[in-house]
Amino acid sequence: MITCVSIGPGDLGYLTRHGAALIEDADVVAGFDAVVNFIRPLISADAQIVTMGYKDQTEKLKQVADLHHEGRKCVVGFMGDLHFSGFQLLERVEIACGHEVKTLPGISSAQILASRGKVCFDETTFVTFHRRGDIEPFKKHLVTVLKEGRNAIVIPLPWSFMPKDIAKFLLDSGCDPNHQTEVWENLTQAEMDWRGPLSSLTQDFTDMSIMLIRTRKEMPSQLEK
Ligand SMILES: C[S@@+](CC[C@H](N)C(=O)[O-])C[C@H]1O[C@@H](n2cnc3c(N)ncnc32)[C@H](O)[C@@H]1O
Repeated sequence: MITCVSIGPGDLGYLTRHGAALIEDADVVAGFDAVVNFIRPLISADAQIVTMGYKDQTEKLKQVADLHHEGRKCVVGFMGDLHFSGFQLLERVEIACGHEVKTLPGISSAQILASRGKVCFDETTFVTFHRRGDIEPFKKHLVTVLKEGRNAIVIPLPWSFMPKDIAKFLLDSGCDPNHQTEVWENLTQAEMDWRGPLSSLTQDFTDMSIMLIRTRKEMPSQLEK
């Protein structure tokens, strides 16, 4: 009676039909404000909407869990695909409910970025800093990834470890200043915002931004036939 639905990266064209059907059929739809705003056109007029922010999420999820235990069909929306940078929220939903809940996969912002940037998953590692707790192990992991010659798709930590901070950290850690880097903001709605060598990345972006750091020199379109 409660499903965590991945809503895609902010454009209903990337929401699965399964996800849309669950949202349309729900008695209760919950999620962070930005997530609910994206799926609002699909929510039934009779449905109860529970929006939350970082500060009140525990209490709002408890409210949703109570409605679920009363027998209402509940959906909690997750940005992108919940399997990337979504498990801490999933854990909070399960703690509020007191049991495991169903999950529905979706299209991640990382997948859209891989497609726009034409990088292949096989040679790319996904790293997120958008989490609670110690990010140091993830910083070290990113350095290793780049030094081993893999591309990295990176979600920053709003607002404390943003693209320019990540670039500075990588340069201080001895990474190649010439890694071609891209930052995309609201990537289903806009074109690439910034491209250049890692060493030139000094500008500010919003929290809806994601980075691609390339280590491979050539892209498929540049290969000779
Ligand atoms: C908590 S993480 C969740 C990521 C999500 N599960 C996914 O698969 O895309 C939220 C962060 O993902 C990134 N993000 C999600 N959608 C995005 C979009 N459309 N454009 C750029 N970045 C996006 C932003 O960095 C945002 O702060």
